[in-house]
Amino acid sequence: QEAHAAEMERTFIAIKPDGVQRGLISEIVSRFERKGFKLVAIKIVVPSKDFAGKHYHDLKERPFFNGLCDFLSSGPVVAMVWEGEGVIRYGRKLIGATDPQKSEPGTIRGDLAVVVGRNIIHGSDGPETAKDEIKLWFKPEELVKYTSNDEKWIY
Ligand code: TYD
Repeated sequence: QEAHAAEMERTFIAIKPDGVQRGLISEIVSRFERKGFKLVAIKIVVPSKDFAGKHYHDLKERPFFNGLCDFLSSGPVVAMVWEGEGVIRYGRKLIGATDPQKSEPGTIRGDLAVVVGRNIIHGSDGPETAKDEIKLWFKPEELVKYTSNDEKWIY
């Protein structure tokens, strides 16, 4: 019951255009869902290049920034908010290392991707970015509060 008293941790997860094009939406959603995390927001959108730049503003000075923004805005992205104890850090663990060549087998990028520029998924890297990214991609009313039937068997 304790875990329910405080606001549960949330992270922003996005399936990038390559993941959507390759038909990996359900595969990726199922990995978070089976773990026991709760999906509290989801939508499919084609972000503008300007929006992609806002999402990746921390990387503005990097040489790959322009190509990265072109890529993210090149097609539909599945934007999601997942909730659960430790979901920010563990979500990163499920996703695997940035470079799929260095991601462990068993992780999403390790199992399903080959190169860093097409690594199929994004996940917030800390509490502050999670908050900022959720705010950038979703209106507060798009986050849904509900109780899963089996929640008491998870926490
Ligand atoms: P970054 O935030 O460092 O990684 P992560 O997505 O694991 O949080 O980088 C954002 C994205 O930028 C990354 O998913 C893929 C792309 N990228 C490149 O294309 N080349 C690179 O050398 C790096 C470091 C990232």
